Amino acid sequence: MTGELDKIFDTFDRKGIFKDKSLLQINYQPEEILHRGEQIKQIASILAPILRGEKASNLFLYGKTGTGKTLSIQYVREQLLKRVKEYDGFNIKIEYLNCKLKKVSDTEYRILAELIKKLGGEVPVTGLPTQSVYNIFIDLIDSEKQLVVLILDEIDQAVKKISSDFLYNLTRLNSELSKTQICLVGISNNLTFLDELDPRVRSSLSEEEIVFPPYNALQLQDILNKRSRGAFKENILTTGVVAKCAAFAAREHGDARRALDLLRIAGELAERDNSNKILLKHIDGANNKIERDKILDVVSSEPKQFQLVLYSIIYLLEKNKKDSIFTGDVYNLYADLCLKNKLEVLTQRRVSDIIQEFDMLGIINVRIISKGRGGRMREIKLAITNNIIQQAKRIIEDSLDYK
Ligand SMILES: Nc1ncnc2c1ncn2[C@@H]1O[C@H](COP(=O)(O)OP(=O)(O)OP(=O)(O)O)[C@@H](O)[C@H]1O
Ligand SMILES: [Mg+2]
Repeated sequence: MTGELDKIFDTFDRKGIFKDKSLLQINYQPEEILHRGEQIKQIASILAPILRGEKASNLFLYGKTGTGKTLSIQYVREQLLKRVKEYDGFNIKIEYLNCKLKKVSDTEYRILAELIKKLGGEVPVTGLPTQSVYNIFIDLIDSEKQLVVLILDEIDQAVKKISSDFLYNLTRLNSELSKTQICLVGISNNLTFLDELDPRVRSSLSEEEIVFPPYNALQLQDILNKRSRGAFKENILTTGVVAKCAAFAAREHGDARRALDLLRIAGELAERDNSNKILLKHIDGANNKIERDKILDVVSSEPKQFQLVLYSIIYLLEKNKKDSIFTGDVYNLYADLCLKNKLEVLTQRRVSDIIQEFDMLGIINVRIISKGRGGRMREIKLAITNNIIQQAKRIIEDSLDYK
């Protein structure tokens, strides 16, 4: 039996086009980080004083999604930690926390608890007043002379769920510590995040700022070429495949994660096709799949109120056989659908905000049209293909009573 199974697995193995798919997976740590040399050197020189026992400036990294922020900070962290081992006299701790993780981000308590755990302390999962957790945190790090670097990745997520008081408290910590000094590294892909903060928090958090610009298509090609070496068997990639992935991802705001996903999914589609090469059409297929998954994910995870707003837009466009409608038209139908579904009807203002959010997510396009005498109307068009619209509609219908 084992022999037979081996035979099946062997032929499957031989047919496949991947040699080591994990090289293209998101959590794989590449050996070399291309095109981020400047940013990495800047981070290193800003944090370097800690090796001499001095406090480093607080640092803020920002740039759009997939521009290598997490990868770069993790790299510098590892390099710093390598040097720390050789050092004597005081402790250096560099802790990384991703605030987006569910277990971490919803309360100040949980973030602190997670940091305390990383620093080797303990707190009960719940039950203490937040101030006591702060006290535990302070006692823990101030028990001996140390330099502590706290890297808070996706820090905007924490602020969104908790409030910026939490950041204010963190930036004030140094004044409560006697032996230890803390340096904060905040990371965000929300480019306006800093502007939304209290000016005091803002200036403290971003004593130094480093921008991660989007990768251009050529840089993405370099990154893909490097990472796909070893991921596929020989002669799997036809001409233009890497360039096309890079071009798509560059258009999508220079996102390396998107480029890697495209190539990996194109490979999976090629295998499913029994093709022994990745062809250009597989990249198109991969792109559609990513777009579809992204949008359908959003639609199915939105609250019902959001779903009803989107449903109203789709319904009106289809019913009137038009390709655009005005925001004012949406509200009546939306309110009607809410009543039928026994849901609270949100205000017109709130529905406008929801429409704005769909615009930001790329599901619709909203355009403001001036109507003379200062009057303005907002025109809505769908920004997704009919196939995705139909799937979105089905998802919404399944989650509602009204069909
Ligand atoms: N220069 C690079 N060389 C190789 N791989 C890269 C490079 N930049 C990014 N990547 C890869 O692209 C993916 C996204 O990078 P990373 O997670 O660092 O982005 P990010 O800027 O932190 O994005 P987000 O804001 O969404 O967290 C990762 O899988 C990473 O390994
Ligand atoms: Mg990141």
